[in-house]
Amino acid sequence: MVERSAIRKDFIADYDGLADEWWDPRGALAPLGWIARARAEYVPAAEHRPGQGQASLLDIACGGGLFGPYAADKGYRVVGVDLSELSLREALRHGFDEVVRADITGLPFDDESFDVVTAGQCLEHVPDPFAVVSEACRVLRPGGTLVVDTIADTAVARFVSITLAENLPLPGRPPRGTHDHRLFVNRARLTRTARANGVELTLHGLRPHMRDMARYAAGRREEVRMIATKSTAVLFLGAGTKC
Ligand SMILES: C[S@@+](CC[C@H](N)C(=O)[O-])C[C@H]1O[C@@H](n2cnc3c(N)ncnc32)[C@H](O)[C@@H]1O
Repeated sequence: MVERSAIRKDFIADYDGLADEWWDPRGALAPLGWIARARAEYVPAAEHRPGQGQASLLDIACGGGLFGPYAADKGYRVVGVDLSELSLREALRHGFDEVVRADITGLPFDDESFDVVTAGQCLEHVPDPFAVVSEACRVLRPGGTLVVDTIADTAVARFVSITLAENLPLPGRPPRGTHDHRLFVNRARLTRTARANGVELTLHGLRPHMRDMARYAAGRREEVRMIATKSTAVLFLGAGTKC
């Protein structure tokens, strides 16, 4: 865990400031939309359970709601939690049924209250990502699915996600300072934390489709597909079921 006082800046103010860009396919947050599409592949369709109401999905640090349309299409009642007020307003316009303004390291929800919990691209923004994972597991019902995706604490991830991604003059480039490498996530500790809380995560690497990237940069595509890669050393996703 990184000391909170050592963290350079206020990530929430950053995302409030970027709230107009959530849904811009060529804006600073565009890659989050590509990753949201990839995340959806790991979320099962909602089960119809007579007498139990609609299955529910909690999207932790939902931001502007990029995952909302995928979750809604799969049949879930979609709940989002984030601290960025302006982003939550966007989420409500994009498939979310309910949003809650709260810190993700202490979720204001009952134990075992969601069928699916997703946490996309947020663990690398908090000093204690493992507290978020424990909380995600706590609010997930037995048999439910957890999907998390984040950035690994490796030198190559620092080079790709900060040196390259924040500096190359390409559309979809995050602002400088979006990431602090000290917050990148240790994969072994992530899987250990999930296991200790009842979820066996399987990790998968993700990377952009290079030809899509080139076409996107040239203005000939509006979206880049994320594809599976063996290496989990940069961007990776973990998925598992709670026992
Ligand atoms: C990179 S964005 C990811 C948003 C969304 N999950 C997605 O993939 O599009 C990170 C989000 O985490 C939120 N966030 C960061 N720290 C947080 C905290 N401690 N509590 C709640 N939200 C937080 C930010 O406001 C922002 O919306």
